[in-house]
Amino acid sequence: MAILEILEFPDPRLRTKAKPIVEITPAIQALAADMLETMYAAPGVGLAATQVNVHKRLLVLDISDDKNQPMVFINPEITAIEGEQSYEEGCLSVPGFQESIKRLDRIRVNALNLEGTAFEIECDGLLSVCIQHEVDHLNGKLFVDYLSSLKRQLISKKLKKQQRTASAKIL
Ligand code: NI
Repeated sequence: MAILEILEFPDPRLRTKAKPIVEITPAIQALAADMLETMYAAPGVGLAATQVNVHKRLLVLDISDDKNQPMVFINPEITAIEGEQSYEEGCLSVPGFQESIKRLDRIRVNALNLEGTAFEIECDGLLSVCIQHEVDHLNGKLFVDYLSSLKRQLISKKLKKQQRTASAKIL
C-alpha cells in the first residue's frame, strides 16, 4: 500500500471527467487500497480517484467514527429521490476551506463493489452528501463550483499562494 499525492485546487487535472471502469483488475483493487490509506492518513472521509490523478470512476469513503467501515464505489450512478439539505463541506483538494453547500438529501446509488458485484443503497444525511461530493469529483466538479465566482477566485488565490510557499520550503 502507498500514500498517494492529492491534487489541490486550482490544479486543472481536477477538471478531468473520469472514465468508467470496464474491468476490475488487481491494479484497480490496489488503487482502491491505496486510496483508502491516503484518505485515512489525510485524514478525510472520502476520496475520488480524480483527486489522486487517476481518471477512472472509483471512489472510497468511510464516515464511521471509528474509521473501520470502508466503502468502495465503482462506476457509481446517483438517482435523486427527494429533499434538499445544506451541509458544511470541506475537501482534501481544497485544504483549509469549508462552506455550506446545498445538495439533494435522499439519494439512491447504484455501483459495483471491488468483486464486481452490483449493489444499490439508499441514503440521506452525511453519507448522501459524501457520495454526491465524490461523484462530482469524478465529473471534474469541486464544491467551490457551488460558490460565487468571487469567493472561488479568492480561495484559488489563497491556495496558490500556500502552494508556492509550501514548494519553496522544500528547496
Ligand atoms: Ni473533495
